[in-house]
Amino acid sequence: MEIIEDRDELREILNVWRRAGEHVALVPTMGNLHEGHLSLLALAREHAERVVVTVFVNPTQFGEGEDFDKYPRTLERDKIHLKRANVDILFVPAVETIYPFGTNAATSVTVPVLTEELCGLQRPGHFDGVTSVVSRLLSMVQPDVAVFGQKDYQQQLVIRRMVADMHLPTEIICGPTLRDEDGLALSSRNQYLSEEELKVAPQLYLALQDIGKELQSGNDDYAALEQQATKTLEKSGFKPEYVSIRRAENLGEPDRETDKLVVLAAAQLGNARLIDNIVVEN
Ligand code: PAF
Repeated sequence: MEIIEDRDELREILNVWRRAGEHVALVPTMGNLHEGHLSLLALAREHAERVVVTVFVNPTQFGEGEDFDKYPRTLERDKIHLKRANVDILFVPAVETIYPFGTNAATSVTVPVLTEELCGLQRPGHFDGVTSVVSRLLSMVQPDVAVFGQKDYQQQLVIRRMVADMHLPTEIICGPTLRDEDGLALSSRNQYLSEEELKVAPQLYLALQDIGKELQSGNDDYAALEQQATKTLEKSGFKPEYVSIRRAENLGEPDRETDKLVVLAAAQLGNARLIDNIVVEN
């Protein structure tokens, strides 16, 4: 595995691969890799002869008072995982490499509408940071495919929209959420949970599953289902930000004709902000 910090060095290797007719898959990450990320690497490998992983804790997607400073940085351990997974390139750019004119003067990429609700409402500017960094990574690597996780459901829809709207020649692929045995979605932020909170955290997934069962049995009182789940989460000790039933394809308001729904939730538990979602076929 080549470990590269420099943009030109990255470009040279990518050019060699391209001349040899090899396909490239990109898996952007913020590091602190867990099984969920490793499953995305395996998916990437199914789509391309070459896999590039980026580890970059992107400052522009963290708001004031959020966890940018304490976000777990575990590069040495990540390298071991990535070598084992036969990744071809680990790209670890500095902030100045990604944002050569500084983060304050950086060109910002905004996907309107889709980013104005759910996590976008709770974390103003967050998705602009995500699309600003992902668009840069896509133009630096020019991959055939890029792989993201379903756990960040709204994020992957926003990225898909950006790619479609900007005519970027990369196919976006979404890998399923990996979970602990108790159902808790794997996330780097689970590390912020205390032992007690770790016992409570799987209730988030259970609340989504309860809604899923109701939807599948024909209950279409979406508002009541959302409210009930919110109350249940509050009783368990969460501070829910939202529980929301949406159209899976575009997060629009669903109706009884909608055949694919997504149930999304975000909630604070202790020091961790947890998000999760399930897709429900009607
Ligand atoms: O999902 C993440 O880890 C980040 O938002 C991403 C896509 C790597 C952009 O920084």
